Order: sequence, then structure tokens, then C-alpha cells
Amino acid sequence: MRQAGRYMPEYRAIRERHGFLALCTNPELAAEVTVTAVKRLGVDAAIIFADILLPLIPMNVGLSYEAGDGPAIARPIRTGADLDSLAPVDAAASLGFVSDSIRLVRRELPACPIIGFAGAPFTLASYLIEGGASRDFRYTKSLMYREPAAWDRLMTALARITADYLAMQAAAGADLIQLFDSWVGALAPADYRRFVMPHTRAALASIKGRVPAIHFGTGTAGLIEAMREAGGDIIGLDWRVDLRDAWDRLGPEVGIQGNLDPMVLLADRDELRRQVRAILDRAGGRPGHIFNLGHGILPQTPVDNVIAMVEMVHEMSRR
Ligand code: CP3
Repeated sequence: MRQAGRYMPEYRAIRERHGFLALCTNPELAAEVTVTAVKRLGVDAAIIFADILLPLIPMNVGLSYEAGDGPAIARPIRTGADLDSLAPVDAAASLGFVSDSIRLVRRELPACPIIGFAGAPFTLASYLIEGGASRDFRYTKSLMYREPAAWDRLMTALARITADYLAMQAAAGADLIQLFDSWVGALAPADYRRFVMPHTRAALASIKGRVPAIHFGTGTAGLIEAMREAGGDIIGLDWRVDLRDAWDRLGPEVGIQGNLDPMVLLADRDELRRQVRAILDRAGGRPGHIFNLGHGILPQTPVDNVIAMVEMVHEMSRR
């Protein structure tokens, strides 16, 4: 969850010299950023430095990252007619720099599990359609409800790209993959099943049996059963749901990743310790728990608190 990011002075130093997309598309730099975070934090896995929106580069919609504002898309897709202007994407041909980053990280960290990742069709569609971040997803839902055939065409295309992109990362040596459906919690459960689940399922089915998959979203307390049906060996949770309740609902066959509120990293050590312990208690030593934050680290987070959290998890889970 932004393991390598603006809260780290080493990252900020590199970012002073390179734009965000330049960093993501340069394998040497992306690998360096990935490896530096792993070494500094002492975490048990490396998430490759990239972004879920990189597949939008070859779509030619004018993706950029404005300082502090997050991603922006110059030519968003608002109607079925706009869809015709989308350039087709060949993941292996246009996103091969991510494979190169994975190979370089593998060379630097031979024994460290590497997590590849991609955005899920709904979350990718929301950026493509809104043109950036959104509170209400009004353009996304308008297209979904008003032009269901166009929606289906877009989601089918995004699922294909996601599947190819994940397969490419597994082939390059990613040990597991994480599918980010960060904003899917904006949907009613019935709409998730009708408009999203078939496409997420298609993306995850294509990687099944190759590498394990983590299926993550936020605000998903009403959706986790449906997300589980869509696929994934591990369900990633944010902090808005109780970890044990969620696991009871999903059953012992699935793994769980989560779910500390990243804001707890702004608290003092006693509170941090209490909260880390509470999550491990909720997991109750069951096999298949991956301790993680429930979402991305804030740029204002002290690095020392992140390092302390990793040490606490290691210490408490050894017992
Ligand atoms: O965790 C990691 O270290 C791996 C790298 C990673 C990034 N983005 C780097 C990044 C991962 C896994 C992502 C995923 C991602 N990107 C998601 C899914 C996870 C989530 O947060 O919900 C989403 C929705 C995006 C799209 C995106 N990229 C947003 C919304 C932003 C702005 C975020 C912010 O903090 O303002 C980005 C930019 C981004 N992606 C940064 C980083 C390190 C900050 C860019 C910078 O250096 O200016």
C-alpha cells in the first residue's frame, strides 16, 4: 500500500529528479525504489513499484500525474461513442518495462517474494470515465446505467488487458499478484454482481493456477462474499470491517490480507502496538493471514513508525 512512496525521504529525493511516470517506466529506477523500501522497512514481500493506471498509457487518453492532485486523464471516456477512440492495448508490447523491473528486483532480492499488481476493471473504468479521482462516481455510474452495452464492451476490454498484464508479470517472476478494486465499495451489491463481477472474474480466472491472487477493495463490508465469488485466493480488507467477522463470513479456505487503518501510523507507539496486537488477535493465529495496512500510507507518515510496525508484527506473530 504505497510501500515505496512520498513518506520516504529516499523516494522524495529520486522524485525531485524524475517525474512519476518516468520513474514507473524506467526499470532501473523502479527496481531501486522497490528494493530501497523493502530494505529500509524490513517487510516480508516487495510490491513492485508501478501504478494501476499504467495500462492507460497505451490507450492514449492523456494520462498524467499532477503534483499533489493524483492522476488526471485529459480525454476521458464519457459515452459509448468515445469508446471507439480508445487505442487497443498489447500489454506485453507496451508495458514490458514492468517485467524488466520485476527481473531486476528478483536479482537484487533473490529470496524475497515479489507482488505484481493491476487495477481491476471497475476501478480502471472509474478513472478512465471520471478523468481522475471521484467522490460520487457519477459519470461512471451514468455510463453503467444508461449505456449498459457500452459499459459491457469497456469492461470486457479492461478485463482482457488486466488479464494479459497480470500474466505478463507472473511470467516475469512475480510470485503472487494483487488485484486492486480500490473504489468498488461505491457500488450496491446487486450492481456489483450485475455490472462488475463477470469482468473481475474473467480477469482473475485467467491467472488462476499460475500464481496466488489477492483481491482487494475498500469499503467492501457489503461485498466481500461477492468478491470472493469473483475470485482470488486471498481477500484484502480495509479497516472498516472487523477482520474476524469477515473471515467467518468467507470461510477458512480463503486467506485474508489486512487491515490496519494507515492513520494509526500517526499515533504514538503504545497505540500502534495496541492496534497491531488487536489485528493479530482477530486473525487468531489462523494460517493464511497476511498482515497489511487497509489502504495506502499517507505522505505525512513518519518512516520510523512504519519500521516499528513491521518489527511489532514480526515480534508478536513469532509467539
Ligand atoms: O505500494 C507500492 O509501493 C507499489 C506502488 C503503487 C503505487 N500505486 C505507487 C504510487 C501501487 C500498488 C499503486 C496502486 C494504485 N494506484 C491504486 C490502488 C491502490 C489504492 O491506493 O487504492 C490506485 C487507485 C492508484 C492510482 C493512483 N496513483 C492515485 C490515486 C495516486 C495519487 C495518490 C496520492 O497519494 O496522492 C497515484 C500516484 C502514486 N502511485 C504515487 C505512488 C508512490 C504517488 C505519486 C508521486 O510520487 O507523486
